[in-house]
Amino acid sequence: MKKFYVTTPIYYPNDVPHLGHAYTTIIADVLARWNKIKGKKVFFLTGTDEHGKKIQETAESKGKTPKEFVDELIPKYKEDWKKLNIDYNRFIRTTDEDHEKVVQEVLQKVYDKGDIYLGEYEGYYCVGCEAYLTEKDLEDSCCPIHKKKVDKMKEKSYFFKLSKYQDELLKLYDSGFIVPFYRTKEIVNRVKEGLNDLSISRTSFDWGIKLPFDEKHIAYVWFDALLNYYSATREKGNENFWPADVHLIGKDIFWFHAVYWPAMLMSAGIDLPKTLAVHGFWTIDGHKMSKSLGNVVGIDKLVSIAGVDSARYFLLRNAPFGDDGNFSEQELIDRHNGELVNKLGNLVSRVAGLCEKYGFKKNESWKSPLPKDKMIEEINQLISNFEFDKSLNKIFEVVDILNGYAQAEKPWEIHEEDFKKAVLYNLVEGIRFVADLLLPFIPESAEKIKKQFSGDKIKKGEYLFKRIE
Ligand code: MSP
Repeated sequence: MKKFYVTTPIYYPNDVPHLGHAYTTIIADVLARWNKIKGKKVFFLTGTDEHGKKIQETAESKGKTPKEFVDELIPKYKEDWKKLNIDYNRFIRTTDEDHEKVVQEVLQKVYDKGDIYLGEYEGYYCVGCEAYLTEKDLEDSCCPIHKKKVDKMKEKSYFFKLSKYQDELLKLYDSGFIVPFYRTKEIVNRVKEGLNDLSISRTSFDWGIKLPFDEKHIAYVWFDALLNYYSATREKGNENFWPADVHLIGKDIFWFHAVYWPAMLMSAGIDLPKTLAVHGFWTIDGHKMSKSLGNVVGIDKLVSIAGVDSARYFLLRNAPFGDDGNFSEQELIDRHNGELVNKLGNLVSRVAGLCEKYGFKKNESWKSPLPKDKMIEEINQLISNFEFDKSLNKIFEVVDILNGYAQAEKPWEIHEEDFKKAVLYNLVEGIRFVADLLLPFIPESAEKIKKQFSGDKIKKGEYLFKRIE
């Protein structure tokens, strides 16, 4: 059986999930569900990134130990993913024992290979990014992303020979590893400028995984975190899933995934993931989403506007993958009313009503005129290309066709019984087909439709979507 392995980034549980995290996770869910429908054995991994200075500092500010602090936040993550109908297979935490063991094992492997050496790090560190910065990266002595003063540090540190992998990395980018492909260029240019070896250990704080060859040092949080994708496949039953088919990430963590991660794997002699899919950022009403602006959209808020499926639909439909998107409550409501209520909801309730009124019977000799195989193949192509907006458009074209067909044939005016039933049959078959196609995108509504239209006793039932004024 073919397998499919998709991951989201593991999120820092220093706060609760928001719309940006939801976006990545929903896309992973769509890919997982679609591949499952295609008959593949699927592994969908998400989780939390719990070590490092950022978590330690946040915990301290709340008077808690890091472990106490993260333990309290994890249930909220799991609840939120449930609210969004995220059907993951494992929720990995970097404090999980099996993960910690694999990180130490890989560190040892890389060390034995001679790719780790002891040196001294002198420079800057941004806790927000959990990244080392050079003088050149700073703006007014601040991190350009977090606009905060960065820590100046000087400490003994182990280094990973990243520079050694420059050529091999450049070869990897050539192979179409990065999606969308246009993002390849920015990474190639930066890697061609030359790579510095990477400081991968810290001694000034202790919330992390100890280096197996020197326990005074803890592993740099990114070296630890990136390995989650691999360590999860070392769990019993998951062994066949490595290498990952798709790592989904946002553009802010591109560098870590496109450079550090494959180089670490090359050094450890582990197969490389197949695709790194990089999405853009969401703004909220045209503004950057940030705590200080107070405009962070949490999952409860997102789902409360028009329900979970409308939220999923909006995020997938409103921006092409790779581009930045803008979120506005009004636009979400407009799509909900215009597409889900007026097109899909109306079709379903109208046809169900007609079936209830006139009775519906399947006649084995009738065949739906929709070119289903061709349409499935087209949608499959679009999903494989991460074109979720176009996939939804295509499916809604079918909805339009069916609405147009009902309007043109007017089954309520047809007198000949057999013909009336045949028209209803075509509509019902069409709706079932649409529900199958929509299943990965809006699973709750698609399941409802499938249930309503299974069997011969079709009833009008409740409205799928309620108009929001
Ligand atoms: N812990 C690291 C990832 C380690 S992966 C081995 C991390 N965590 S995070 O909690 O900051 O979440 C980052 C993810 O959320 C990224 O993929 C990032 O792109 C995404 N987003 C955060 N804000 C976002 C938007 N406003 N819009 C879209 N995605 C955004 O980084």
